[in-house]
Amino acid sequence: MAAEESRFAMIVTTKDLFKHAYGKYAVGAYNINNLEQTVGLFRGNLGKKDKNEEPTNPATSAPFIIQISRGARAFTDKRFLEAMIRSAEDVFPEAIFAVHLDHGTEEVCYECIDSGFYSSVMIDASHDPFDKNIEITRRVVDRAHDKGLSVEAELGMLGGVEEDISVDADHACLTDPDQAVEFVERSGCDSLAVAIGTSHGAFKFKGKQSLHFDRIEAIQKLLPKFPLVMHGSSSVPQEWVDRINAAGGNLPQTSGVQEQEYLPAAKLGVTKVNIDTDGRLIWCAVYREVFRDKPADFDPRSAGKPFMAAYADFITHKNKMLGSAGQLESVRKSLGVAV
Ligand code: G3H
Ligand code: 13P
Ligand code: ZN
Repeated sequence: MAAEESRFAMIVTTKDLFKHAYGKYAVGAYNINNLEQTVGLFRGNLGKKDKNEEPTNPATSAPFIIQISRGARAFTDKRFLEAMIRSAEDVFPEAIFAVHLDHGTEEVCYECIDSGFYSSVMIDASHDPFDKNIEITRRVVDRAHDKGLSVEAELGMLGGVEEDISVDADHACLTDPDQAVEFVERSGCDSLAVAIGTSHGAFKFKGKQSLHFDRIEAIQKLLPKFPLVMHGSSSVPQEWVDRINAAGGNLPQTSGVQEQEYLPAAKLGVTKVNIDTDGRLIWCAVYREVFRDKPADFDPRSAGKPFMAAYADFITHKNKMLGSAGQLESVRKSLGVAV
């Protein structure tokens, strides 16, 4: 689905976004489940904090990827997600983004490929043995490429919880660079999620921990110009954990990926950075605080409004750390798209 062929001009291919970003910055891939997250996400990527802040700020505007997980598709009805994104496109015509299935099974990948709505899918068969992972990925790639979608696959095992699978730290394992080369050649995938020291969810590390840059470098050396994907990239900001706990929550002390490491990783080929948990923490903190401070209030908008502003602000900040802030105009030019 090239930009000019898309029914919705600003939904572009993930491949085009990667081509522009590779080696220079990482594209933020953010999960959504509801309307407030969607609106905050679009505003944040256009550098706007709230509805009345006009115009879009070119210095902070960024291309981005909207991620939809299987859990998000099942939460209400997947048709609502598509409708929300289409509406957001109308409301924010300046935005340039791709729509991606996060952690798909083979069956859900086919559903998304056939829907005609998605830019790309992730087939996650990383819990299967190497050859089976390749076999499944190859089938999805063939079907996706027939329809012009690209495919992200995963090799190696992250720790943490994703969808219905939980992997403890002892069973997580970093991606082997030689295996990565064989995997990419045999499966035909377009990008690869690699295990480089991160894990899903809020409880990543007890103390400060660094990404395994030596591993990223070794993979890039064998797969030059091939986009790598970093899952489990939330930074779990202390401020939001503290705010949740001060407003009645009970989260243990934890830390996430250091934001300063996004850009060095991007220079080594990490072209897509997946962030979901941080957005959930912000949602939780804002909703808790609002109803703690106004115990007689029960209006969903009382918390929804400050959440959208806080989330937009967070996205703008993240994009600065990823290096994608300020890239929107250049992406638009590279795609030859007019507003
Ligand atoms: O990696 C998993 C993502 O954070 C999506 O989470 O399956 O709970 O929607 P979810
Ligand atoms: P976090 O849990 O670190 O936000 O990672 C999200 C993710 O990898 C989605 O695929
Ligand atoms: Zn993930």
